[in-house]
Amino acid sequence: MPTQEKQQNNGARLIKKGKTKDVYALPNGNVLLKFKDNITVGDDGKEDPGGNKAGGTRQNLGKQSLALTKYYFHLIDKNLNIPTHMVDANLAENTMEVLPIKTFGNGLEWICRAKAEGSFLKRNKNIMRGMPLNNLVEVSLKDDENGDPILNKNAFVCGGKYNWNGKEIDLGNGVISSPNFDLCYIYTKQITDLIIKDFKKRGLEFIDIKYEFGLTRTNKVVLIDEISAGSMRVFDKKGNKLEKDDIYEAVINDKNFGMSKRDMGRDL
Ligand SMILES: Nc1ncnc2c1ncn2[C@@H]1O[C@H](COP(=O)(O)OP(=O)(O)OP(=O)(O)O)[C@@H](O)[C@H]1O
Ligand SMILES: [Mg+2]
Repeated sequence: MPTQEKQQNNGARLIKKGKTKDVYALPNGNVLLKFKDNITVGDDGKEDPGGNKAGGTRQNLGKQSLALTKYYFHLIDKNLNIPTHMVDANLAENTMEVLPIKTFGNGLEWICRAKAEGSFLKRNKNIMRGMPLNNLVEVSLKDDENGDPILNKNAFVCGGKYNWNGKEIDLGNGVISSPNFDLCYIYTKQITDLIIKDFKKRGLEFIDIKYEFGLTRTNKVVLIDEISAGSMRVFDKKGNKLEKDDIYEAVINDKNFGMSKRDMGRDL
């Protein structure tokens, strides 16, 4: 990695290059997330919020993701008693200063589903697309190589070895305590309820979303990472999936997609 990339003017030191963000350690002990324009795609190369690969770029996606994250973290702060890692957001620089966080193991993703779509359909062949799932929560281990295994609470809390699509997943002595698992579960439900209401008010239908949580230096559970168009699926009233730009326009610029006359039957 070139030196200028490792060290920014403000003394920030690059610690990780993620798919959609670069992560820097700041001299003040906090962390700086630099949002990039990368799109995540699934194994089939199609755009997928849960995708494990970066697949091309889209202009302004980083800025839009940061604006949405800032919006949702403020919404959560105003309405729920759930702490987030956000310290400050700089839309001119595409950066967000956040608290330094320990993830649970290599990180857990908390998925919440109002209706059956995406990878849920691939795993549950007998379930019809669009079936109501009543905000079902699924928890997956962040493990791109093994396809982000979805396991149950006992597995994540107690540890041990598990099988996921023929691969052995070793959770050692466990990656999260039982009370922290329960807290993340409740937070996932509460945040999703809030976001569902926010879309309803815009005439839009929330389908599914994913979050990450972590622990601060004082072991407090906080919402981390981002909530952006890449974290969620949203449909208009006619069942058409909103593109990332559309989600940004609907939420940040209050553009009305509630009465959209787009074609039905697009491949979602
Ligand atoms: N407050 C924080 N402190 C430390 N790390 C964080 C914090 N918030 C988010 N992260 C981590 O920073 C990375 C952000 O980059 P990005 O979202 O691009 O990663 P990613 O490609 O999704 O990586 P991964 O494969 O680890 O999910 C993630 O690994 C995320 O867990
Ligand atoms: Mg990520």
